Amino acid sequence: MGWSHCSWFYSHPTLGKNGVVALLMVLFAPHIRKYSAGGACMSMARLDGKTVLITGANTGIGKETALDLAIRGARVIMACRDVEKGEEAAASIRRIYCKANVEVRELDLADTSSIRAFAQRFLRGKPTNLIHASQTAPYSLYSALL
Ligand SMILES: NC(=O)c1ccc[n+]([C@@H]2O[C@H](COP(=O)([O-])OP(=O)(O)OC[C@H]3O[C@@H](n4cnc5c(N)ncnc54)[C@H](OP(=O)(O)O)[C@@H]3O)[C@@H](O)[C@H]2O)c1
Repeated sequence: MGWSHCSWFYSHPTLGKNGVVALLMVLFAPHIRKYSAGGACMSMARLDGKTVLITGANTGIGKETALDLAIRGARVIMACRDVEKGEEAAASIRRIYCKANVEVRELDLADTSSIRAFAQRFLRGKPTNLIHASQTAPYSLYSALL
């Protein structure tokens, strides 16, 4: 039966048309929210012994990823352009998971010399998994890591 056959529903004495629309929105809101949020990672993989570098790790996706990977046992290098904000984010991760192995390092992806200094000091020769969560495209970071 199509919606055209449901005019009795819209003319419901208590709900009315606006009430029906509001009711449908309330009923479907959780499903719309879940759909628009995208998929969820269901993996239970452990990352003990792995080192992960996350750019833009002081907030948003980068911070959530840092928390998740730290809980999985990885050593997480949180590369942030503002070290103070990075330390605050690291502290909040440690409050959630006290064993979190998170380190904050200064890295401004808009500054090539900052990228080179970072790569030389912390990364050269060490196997590292890179997760890029900042808005700036770090081509020079990739080349600095090679
Ligand atoms: N959120 C989403 O649903 C979504 C969906 C698809 C794609 N994305 C993309 O994923 C990325 C992250 O999204 P988000 O929502 O987590 O963004 P966000 O909360 O705005 O975080 C961006 C991060 O990038 C850092 N950053 C910006 N410029 C930088 C630079 N020059 N050097 C170093 N770090 C820099 C910011 O540091 P400061 O705090 O110092 O500014 C911040 O930590 C963005 O590229 C976004 O377009 C997001």
